[in-house]
Amino acid sequence: MQDLSRADLAEQVIPSLQEVQERLGYIPREAITWLADRLHLSEQEIYGVASFYNNFRFTPPGKHHLRICLGTACHVQGGDRLLAATSEKLGIKPGETTADKRYSLERVACVGCCALAPAVVLDDEVFGRTTQRSLKRLLDTIDRTDRKAKKSGEGSQ
Ligand code: FES
Repeated sequence: MQDLSRADLAEQVIPSLQEVQERLGYIPREAITWLADRLHLSEQEIYGVASFYNNFRFTPPGKHHLRICLGTACHVQGGDRLLAATSEKLGIKPGETTADKRYSLERVACVGCCALAPAVVLDDEVFGRTTQRSLKRLLDTIDRTDRKAKKSGEGSQ
């Protein structure tokens, strides 16, 4: 084990964590063990860095990945209330995935469209000036679309 400051540790660990998350969509337990071994650090040190930053997730993402921006502009425009309401509607906290694996929820910092605050990113599509009502409509539309797709998939078998 090395004796590193928090900043040095983060600098050494974050690129690897980012790479794992980019490839797998999350940081599995095995990856922490593997990284600890590879970087000659303890698993606690790796996990400590990963859990300190909000952008790492420890569960596989759902079919639909919902990210709610809590950067300054979005926070001021009610992003926190939007996150709380969505969290309650889906029954999960940020960083978690619903039991049916359909939705994962994440809080993110600025997604680059502050003029459209509060912003939400759903499956890589950005939605601006989002309200609880518009987000509910969006999720309802996705649910309907998924049900239709499932039905037509069942019908073609
Ligand atoms: S703060 Fe949310 S898009 Fe910039």
